[in-house]
Amino acid sequence: MLSILFLSLIAVAPSVFAHGFLGQVAIDGKWYAGNVPNNYKGPSPIRLVNDIGPVKGSSNDDLMCGLSAQKAAMVVPANPGSKVTFQWSGGGGQKWPHNTGPLMTYMASCGSTSCGQFDPSGAQWFKIDEVGRKSDGNWYQMDISKGASFDVSLPQDLAPGGYLIRHEILALHLAVSMGGAEFYPSCTQVQIGGNGSGKPNATVSFPGAYSDSDPGIYDPTIYDSGSQYTFPGGPVSNLAATSDSLGAPASGSASFPSGTAAPSPSPSGGSGSGSGSSSSGGNGGSSSSATSPTSASSSSSGGSQGGGSCSLKRKKSSPGNNNHPRHYSRIMKRIMHHATAVSSF
Ligand SMILES: *[C@@H]1O[C@H](CO)[C@@H](O)[C@H](O)[C@H]1NC(C)=O
Ligand SMILES: *[C@@H]1O[C@H](CO)[C@@H](O)[C@H](O)[C@H]1NC(C)=O
Repeated sequence: MLSILFLSLIAVAPSVFAHGFLGQVAIDGKWYAGNVPNNYKGPSPIRLVNDIGPVKGSSNDDLMCGLSAQKAAMVVPANPGSKVTFQWSGGGGQKWPHNTGPLMTYMASCGSTSCGQFDPSGAQWFKIDEVGRKSDGNWYQMDISKGASFDVSLPQDLAPGGYLIRHEILALHLAVSMGGAEFYPSCTQVQIGGNGSGKPNATVSFPGAYSDSDPGIYDPTIYDSGSQYTFPGGPVSNLAATSDSLGAPASGSASFPSGTAAPSPSPSGGSGSGSGSSSSGGNGGSSSSATSPTSASSSSSGGSQGGGSCSLKRKKSSPGNNNHPRHYSRIMKRIMHHATAVSSF
């Protein structure tokens, strides 16, 4: 047991990188680069957060769009039914590091304000999608941690206008403790065309939609693959995504409209990913996309907090779990997972 704990300690060592962010996003196959947290390189529709670490606590204002999220420069075109692809990244060019917990997607109208200027305080969010465990008992998030992207097709009857798409990973590897859940919200600014007229039948606010004691946020049975998972944030709205699915990893790093190279390698992982990726992979060139950068407002907000805030809190080495044989295989899985993460770095 001691040696297992010791190994586990070593395996978890590169903790500075053990968090992540939404690295890039595609609308109907057109990729847009996101900025590495706290490292602004160019205009993006993804609101820039200032650290790869998680949002903690259900009353945190950063639950809106992520840690100290800044308004983004671009509002990119989409339509009802458009396929939106999210590619998450880990810190330091690694893949997304966590594998336990759901993926949820919300939208909120920016109203009469351009989404590039929209303040999400008081935004009315409606949930369009949620995925948890797959039929094999593993979480979709496990595929994300292997480099997969995630596709959500927008609601069919979405009314035209500006919206924030709030796509969120809820990492629950520490959720056996109250307050252990890690929230990774992201906000992407889109302008919906077409002529839909749907209105959401219910909306929630952030913060407000979640409570630290919600069964899907504090979950002592989270590692019991037989347990029923209860999504937080209420049911999916009548304006629901028309489909969702895991996708091939993005085939490369999208570039910024200015032509600035994306600052860090994208999840290149999937060796055999070539076939499926519908992405216009090398849209590197002089892409002066059909987008409307309102203003490249955000400046590279200097060096605020460093990596210090995001060191991985190791799971309490729960001596109480000793009578659960399954616990050992879980530890082994974690070791294997981290070991491969280290060797692939
Ligand atoms: C609705 O919008 C679509 C796409 O813009 C267009 O093709 C269609 O003709 C419009 N329908 C009506 C009834 O305006
Ligand atoms: C909204 O509609 C969805 C889908 O029909 C339904 O599951 C949900 O319960 C509705 N919510 C409310 C508050 O009526």
